[in-house]
Amino acid sequence: MNDLPLQPLRWMGDAATGRLLLVDQTRLPHELVELSCADAATLHEAIRALRVRGAPSIGMAAAHGLVLALQSARQLDLAAFRTELAACAAALVGTRPTAVNLHWAVRTVAEAAQGSSAATCHEAMHAAACKIETDQQARSAAMAAAGTALLAHGERILTICNAGPLAAGGLGSALGVVLLAAQRGLAPTVWACETRPLLQGARLTAFEMSRAGIPVTVLADSAAAQLMARGLVSRVLVGADRIARNGDTANKIGTYALALAAAAHGLPFHVVAPLSTCDPDIPDRRGIPVEERAAEEVLHFQGLPVAASGAAAINPAFDITPAHLITSFITERGVVAPAGLAALLATR
Ligand code: MRU
Repeated sequence: MNDLPLQPLRWMGDAATGRLLLVDQTRLPHELVELSCADAATLHEAIRALRVRGAPSIGMAAAHGLVLALQSARQLDLAAFRTELAACAAALVGTRPTAVNLHWAVRTVAEAAQGSSAATCHEAMHAAACKIETDQQARSAAMAAAGTALLAHGERILTICNAGPLAAGGLGSALGVVLLAAQRGLAPTVWACETRPLLQGARLTAFEMSRAGIPVTVLADSAAAQLMARGLVSRVLVGADRIARNGDTANKIGTYALALAAAAHGLPFHVVAPLSTCDPDIPDRRGIPVEERAAEEVLHFQGLPVAASGAAAINPAFDITPAHLITSFITERGVVAPAGLAALLATR
């Protein structure tokens, strides 16, 4: 294992000729290696295949990806550049449907394309993409500070999927709270749901926590309610992929079951997410698109079949937790109950 810093991505070079380096998250925990994206097609594949994943990281990758896609358009006249920009933006937002950060980041970078020539527009887009990345690190730090203030010493935190540095940059979202709490001597421990079918919890959360020296225990997703019943969980912290205006929250499949179990056991259930994960255009759960991934991911594991031949599989990548099951949202602007989210969004 090499000692690359745990940042999900970095841009190398200038706007005109640079490229995007991504930690290939599908290779973890066995190898920490970067994938070089020098063209839009490589980046599209990386997003679809979850080489880069986690809503804020997908947003950062897409922001730089739009710059990458327009490198060959810098010599065009402005009208042709704008036509190309619209086509490249549409292709990028089609790569994954649920994580709204992708749409937000592409829109933000596209809107930054102001200038008297294609090249100056492109330079402005590059500056906007870099700003999204640095802002995200500040957001992660602010979420971690707000969340840590809620924790007592020795909390046993249950989480699902991966909402750490790889998923969100900086300290991460849900796991950023844990990382900062550990730095402040609060000695948290983590229960990591393995997160079938792609094992982001077992592979990535366990990797990030172990690397930081935080005790982490992986469990089968179906064991979570039993751990709560035994009094082994103090609270649940999860990330988010898209949050509707009323607080209904899309996150990795299995999150809704955790929220139901937490409510049944009287445990706090927090969603940790930047406001860029909120979608003020969607009033509630009914508007959130849920990605359906290939049946193959459920029926096979690392190329080997795990189900009887002839069986079909259903593979929704996300579920939606209704707002009434959520104790609070931990954002870069502080902690807010679901009822207060719309007001906070109005000032975004
Ligand atoms: O399919 P993924 O791995 O991109 O899904 C990501 C998640 O659902 C994470 O749980 C996370 O909470 C959102 S990103 C911090």
